Amino acid sequence: MKRVMIVATTLLLSAGAVMAQQQVAVHQDNLMRSQAKSLYSVIQKMTKGDIPYNQKAVDEALANLEADVAKIAKTFEVNPKQDVVNASYGASPKVWQNKADFDSKIPPVQKAIADVKGKITDVASLKAAYTSINDRCTDCHETYRLKLK
Ligand code: HEC
Repeated sequence: MKRVMIVATTLLLSAGAVMAQQQVAVHQDNLMRSQAKSLYSVIQKMTKGDIPYNQKAVDEALANLEADVAKIAKTFEVNPKQDVVNASYGASPKVWQNKADFDSKIPPVQKAIADVKGKITDVASLKAAYTSINDRCTDCHETYRLKLK
């Protein structure tokens, strides 16, 4: 009886750990998706004319992006050792082998945002801002993001 309980407890604990790890992965993925919402669903769409230029929306998107980017290092502190179920992208194990290098990809994004903040006034300046920020996102993705499907 004792043994059965130990086995049951061990199973429960490991199921709990797997669930906690999935939550970590989801949390990391949600941060990236939130950044994508600001940069792609708002800023890029405006540069393409898919949605009309709107100064307030631009400023809000940049502020949200800035807040999200500041959370990357901490959000990726723990290696969930698994991908989000059905995700298109996952984190490379390299993130946690070279966490300092991974973290070093964040300040350039912050600088790109700071450089354009308060200076975007029209679609042309928004386009330039989009490219300069997105290039820095790509710098990290090239090494640390894996395409899963
Ligand atoms: C320091 C590294 C780093 C930076 C900087 C970074 N990302 Fe990511 N990004 C990742 C990693 C690792 C993944 C894969 C794991 C995940 O999705 O959580 C990822 C995944 C993504 C995904 C795919 C999410 C999905 O599963 O569909 C999007 C979209 C994304 N990032 C957008 C951005 C944008 C926009 C920026 C710039 C504002 C950015 N990222 C900056 C590391 C980074």
